[in-house]
Amino acid sequence: MKKLYLLGMAAALACPYTLAEGTAPAQNKEAFISDLLSRMTLDEKIGQLRLISIGPDMTHEQIRKEIAAGRIGGTFNSVTRPENRPMQDAAMNSRLKIPMFFAYDVIHGQRTIFPIGLGLASSWDMDAIAVSARTAAREAAADSLDMTFGPMVDISRDPRWGRSSEGFGEDTYLVSRIAKVMVQGYQGKDVSAPDSIMAAVKHFALYGGVEGGRDYNTVDMSPTRMYQDYLPPYRAALDAGAGGVMVALNSINGVPATSNTWLMQDLLRRDWGFKGLTVSDHGAILELVKHGVARDGREAAKLAIRAGIDLSMNDMVYGKELPGLVKAGEVPESQIDSAVREVLATKYDLGLFADPYRRLGKAADDPQDVNAESRLHRQDARAVARRSMVLLKNAKDTLPLKKAGTIALVGPLADAPIDMMGSWSAAGQPTQSITLLRGLRDAVGNQAQVLYAKGANVTNDRNSLAFLNRIIFDRTEVEVDPRTPQAMIDEALKAAANADVIVAAVGESRGMSHESASRTTLDIPAPQRALLTALRATGKPLVIVLMNGRPLSLVRETEQADALLETWFTGTEGGHAIADVLFGDYNPSGKLPVTFPRSVGQVPMYYSHLTIGRPFTPGKAGNYTSQYFDEDTTPLFPFGYGLSYTTFDVSDVHLSSARLKRGDTLKASVTVRNTGKRDGETVVQLYLHDVAASMARPIKELKNFEKVFLKAGERKEVTFNLTEEDLKFYNTQLQYAAEAGDFDVQIGLDSQDVKQARFELL
Ligand code: NOJ
Repeated sequence: MKKLYLLGMAAALACPYTLAEGTAPAQNKEAFISDLLSRMTLDEKIGQLRLISIGPDMTHEQIRKEIAAGRIGGTFNSVTRPENRPMQDAAMNSRLKIPMFFAYDVIHGQRTIFPIGLGLASSWDMDAIAVSARTAAREAAADSLDMTFGPMVDISRDPRWGRSSEGFGEDTYLVSRIAKVMVQGYQGKDVSAPDSIMAAVKHFALYGGVEGGRDYNTVDMSPTRMYQDYLPPYRAALDAGAGGVMVALNSINGVPATSNTWLMQDLLRRDWGFKGLTVSDHGAILELVKHGVARDGREAAKLAIRAGIDLSMNDMVYGKELPGLVKAGEVPESQIDSAVREVLATKYDLGLFADPYRRLGKAADDPQDVNAESRLHRQDARAVARRSMVLLKNAKDTLPLKKAGTIALVGPLADAPIDMMGSWSAAGQPTQSITLLRGLRDAVGNQAQVLYAKGANVTNDRNSLAFLNRIIFDRTEVEVDPRTPQAMIDEALKAAANADVIVAAVGESRGMSHESASRTTLDIPAPQRALLTALRATGKPLVIVLMNGRPLSLVRETEQADALLETWFTGTEGGHAIADVLFGDYNPSGKLPVTFPRSVGQVPMYYSHLTIGRPFTPGKAGNYTSQYFDEDTTPLFPFGYGLSYTTFDVSDVHLSSARLKRGDTLKASVTVRNTGKRDGETVVQLYLHDVAASMARPIKELKNFEKVFLKAGERKEVTFNLTEEDLKFYNTQLQYAAEAGDFDVQIGLDSQDVKQARFELL
């Protein structure tokens, strides 16, 4: 046996690891882990299963003591090298010197904040999304982080759910494509690289299906819907190599994910072959008691470890209960060993055994100022952000604006640095985010004048304000202007009176679309609506710039606005990116990754619903069809929708054959033409519909897309390959197969505006 020498700073420390003679560490992962495991006490093993939050629960000193005693496996929520190094030092002082790993919620950027998930998804641009994830990984790794609790790939079809903002929308195919790109971006070519971090995909599973859109609520779902619509994005992340899985807080058909052996064992490990790390969500193991499936903490720990939850996040329950459970023979030590193996394997894969300071580096190299401008990637953030916006309306070519005359910029989100970043903004600093006010002023320089008035508070509702300013964030989230609503509107009207055009930045504060922030209405809050009505009455051109983290009901605002631009929460460079779009320095190309209902009463509303016996046909109202009689039954803006400053035309669909033999490829092509006067990009989308199957199938499902750039007047043929694989679905027996028969293929620029052709699968 010979010693494996640690690299970097740790080289000076005595190395406790041994490997078989003549074998390189990479080839000996299993042997290495087995050897280490054989030398661990039960307490040390259980210590590895504890993932502790750096926060108010334990002092830093206590945490270091616990680490040195071998009682903590990893931590999260500390984001600088000076914070994390002493913990790694403590680990190097523990008996077996097993390195710690450091995790964090790096969701849409670390220091440079990119658009929120819904914004990234709106780009339909996998290169842009890859840039966001890779940049986030580099910045996070440079901050000594090893792992992110992301990507969050929960399909969400209920915009009342506050966490809709974090994910990538309603569609299985689009979210799955993004899941893959995010994982590859975080992990890079090699997850052990010093600038890579491990992805722990979340929240496994079905968290986006919470009943009523109320966070943490139950999920009750048919197996076919699960397999067909909600599970594939997690699978896509794992197929892309995600090293970890975070387990959801919800129950699934009555059984909490955290104690769900079907989910964690049968599906994840047996059927999907997952070999990596599983992490509970925050406090979720102890919550099994509240779920009503465990009598007490002891039983909760037993259920969770038996289900296959390797790491317990921030509850003390594994540390407290597992030793007794093993001693009493209620949990076999082999079960603890399996979990510890996963933790050690994760650390191995992250390269931490080779060098525990791999991402920490040397103290001498620590940045003097963690928030230094030089650490940001502003150009990338701006390039991605401007691709993430969706132009919803543009009457009379109101946009792009001219860089001339006077612009009145009003609204509570016009100069709101915290909100620009959206929720889950990691280590992003509001002081570094570019607001729309700053963005417009930078864009026009002295060519035009920008007058600013806040015009309204985000909300004046006391209960909402109390909720939004609760101490979850370490700052006042929503500043309330004490003036009367009328005084604020008057100020805005004064600015408007002196302007050629009004730009109103309205929507939600970022906390309104966050964890636990569910809403019963999708309206823009009342004071902002009053402001818009007053602005509309001026008769001046009105551009509404929306900032929000979920689809909103915008019937009135769509009527009021001459132009309507959905920007979501755009991140550090948001103000510049929005200005790029408003002035036409970038021609908007985003498409909605979610359906916009007209009102909350239409929820859930998503484009790919199953066929029914009495469908409603738009324009043909009538009794006894599936409709709302008090409101239009169609969505306000369909999935895949988004305008450009130019126009595009899509030809009829050409199929290479009217029949597809299994094993063959059928080509479906259209010619797309830029019929306007500007260069621009659009997303050509392909949908499929199985005309008659053994069960009702979605009226259409996205199966492919391509983002194309066309110069003014240019045309391009876009061809999609279709194979049997694209036609498969899970039938009522959960067999995944394509059934012979007719299929409609639809190609267009949103889910409704399509051209159609039919072919037969033989
Ligand atoms: C709870 C959230 O549900 C989860 O998404 C997050 O990763 C953890 N807290 C850690 O912050």
